[in-house]
Amino acid sequence: MKHLTTLYDLTPSDLMDILQRAADLKALFKKGERPPLLQGRVLAQLFEKPSLRTRNSFEAAMIHLGGSGIFLTTAEAGLNGRESLQDIAKVLSSFSDVITMRTFSHSLIEDFAKHSNCPVINGLSDERHPCQALTDLLTIQETLGQLLDVHLVFIGDGNNVAMSLAIASAMAGMKMTLAAPKGFEYSIEFLKELSVRYPKHRVRQVESPTEAVRTADVVYTDVWASMGQEEDAMRRNKAFAGFQVNEKLMKAAPKDARFMHDLPAKRGLEVSDGVMDGPQSIVFQQAENRMHLARGLFAWILGK
Ligand code: CP
Ligand code: NVA
Repeated sequence: MKHLTTLYDLTPSDLMDILQRAADLKALFKKGERPPLLQGRVLAQLFEKPSLRTRNSFEAAMIHLGGSGIFLTTAEAGLNGRESLQDIAKVLSSFSDVITMRTFSHSLIEDFAKHSNCPVINGLSDERHPCQALTDLLTIQETLGQLLDVHLVFIGDGNNVAMSLAIASAMAGMKMTLAAPKGFEYSIEFLKELSVRYPKHRVRQVESPTEAVRTADVVYTDVWASMGQEEDAMRRNKAFAGFQVNEKLMKAAPKDARFMHDLPAKRGLEVSDGVMDGPQSIVFQQAENRMHLARGLFAWILGK
């Protein structure tokens, strides 16, 4: 049985298979075809944090494939101490064909997966957001026509999204640069594990956003304070001043560079309205692709 708690659960060839599956299903979808590959299957979603894209794209994907979805919050699942994690995992997985989870602690998803009798997919933890990174590769592939050697420049916090993008770019042979202020870069442990698993891949880290974007094919950003870091937002807003992706920064990038953001965005902080809504932005194509990627991923993980 396969799980997707981190992209390290996949081989590069698995990753390419999932992208292909998603692209094929998207092409059919655009022709009005929704093959019921997962008829009668049940998706259970257990979320500790809010979600617009992840929760609803997963549920819509399952419905389009002929299945259905159930949704539980932490309290409804009994994750607040009502029952042990192990027992919840055994019971919920006995009703379900696939489970998606969104948590604070990453190890909670890993522990849950150990006791689950069906595949478990990470829909974001404090450390990883693998489905977002897979979607981003799908979006880059369809926009630029390739992944190999594409230069992805992430401006901002070396957070869950940035870490999953670094792993994804290593797996796909892309180049990646992180421009972050001191104290918000990738941790040494993260970089060490990445270089052990993908020795040929180098993530560049710089402090100057302007220098970083000079050879960018894609300029990417995310919120400065992630879910769970709300109380630290003031300090972060100060630390990241100068890291906004705005028209001036995009002028320092090649003319045909694209702008991406996983959303939700804090307009006026990490990104200006002009860039979000401007001609280089592919953020809404990216958001729509969450659903297409989810269909490819469910079909792949359930062997269809
Ligand atoms: N990008 C993303 O995961 O969005 P949600 O938090 O709305 O799911
Ligand atoms: N880094 C953000 C991503 C939201 C999709 C967070 O964890 O809140």
